[in-house]
Amino acid sequence: MPLATRYELPAAADFHVHLRDGAMAAAVVPTVRQGGVNVAYVMPNLVPPVTTVSQAQAYKSRLQHLDPSVTYLMTLYLHPTITPDVVREAKKAGIAGIKSYPQGLTTNSESGVTDYAAFYPVFAAMEEEGLVLNIHGECASDHKKNITIMNAEASFLPTLKEIHNRFPKLRIVLEHCTTADAVKAVEACGETVVGTITAHHLFLIVDDWAGDVFHYCKPVAKMPNDRLALLKAFVTSRGKFFLGTDSAPHDISAKKGPGNTAAGVFTQPYAVPYILTALEEAIARGDISEDQVTQELLEGFLGGWGRKFYGVEDSEEGAKKGERIVVEKKDEVVAESFKGEGGIEVVPFRKGQKTWSVSWA
Ligand code: DOR
Ligand code: ZN
Repeated sequence: MPLATRYELPAAADFHVHLRDGAMAAAVVPTVRQGGVNVAYVMPNLVPPVTTVSQAQAYKSRLQHLDPSVTYLMTLYLHPTITPDVVREAKKAGIAGIKSYPQGLTTNSESGVTDYAAFYPVFAAMEEEGLVLNIHGECASDHKKNITIMNAEASFLPTLKEIHNRFPKLRIVLEHCTTADAVKAVEACGETVVGTITAHHLFLIVDDWAGDVFHYCKPVAKMPNDRLALLKAFVTSRGKFFLGTDSAPHDISAKKGPGNTAAGVFTQPYAVPYILTALEEAIARGDISEDQVTQELLEGFLGGWGRKFYGVEDSEEGAKKGERIVVEKKDEVVAESFKGEGGIEVVPFRKGQKTWSVSWA
């Protein structure tokens, strides 16, 4: 059966977003629902990072103030000040997970992790309390060990395995999977381990970001066979992989200004539309087949499976119960940029290109 041109679906849930703070948050938060999403799993890499329960709560109320109709699931930043007691406090306060960043490897990761074993007591408390460990799974470049940004994710996978073996009941999300190796590693783990897949990694390969700052993110997009593995993981998922866009807005000056470009691709306003476009392109390349894209698959990948993994019901907090979206193939063109106060300008992924449209049913 060919791809339909219209799908009515439950509202999507995005299990990996960067909403920032201040003027940038004011510019970006209104784009969450625009993308067809009413549950946002909020990453904690602010400056300074969100390392305490009270910081997370204050951050959540700032987000709610900007758009109260979204459910925000909050996280803490794995950091030496996080102890088993903080884990228990976080659980009581409704914090959903703790995110680990490898030190120095991506945006605002200066206070990240160098030694995972040092956090085993914290992981044990998380396992006991049922808090999710969200992992940015990359090793820092180490040229003596032949590690660069191209094999940084593959090099991390033994650590994922080690943590899972030690804490088999700890729910772990390997965020933004980019390689065939990562897909295989997640599939080889027990049911407590899942992976998120972004929209942009379903489109991009290394040739696309080398030379284009708006395609540059961490982990970087890899080889055609890696993209193929992500698409195959998507269409065969049944819950092991689901959507986390890793939408990461940066002002145009941080992308194109002097110095190194900031890592991050901004996809929030078209979160669901991009997925449909990516599937269409994958079908056209022959990577997947049309009949693999079913209503059930879209419902699961875009929200159902993530909600199940995290135990998120249709919420009373923010998002309304039973909200639905309509995704259609019309003449939507991705905006040139999104502007905010203080001269903020964020360029979205695939600006000026056609994509699908989303409206609220
Ligand atoms: O490309 C990225 N951007 N990767 C990350 O891990 C962080 C994110 C950001 O916050 O900009
Ligand atoms: Zn991220």
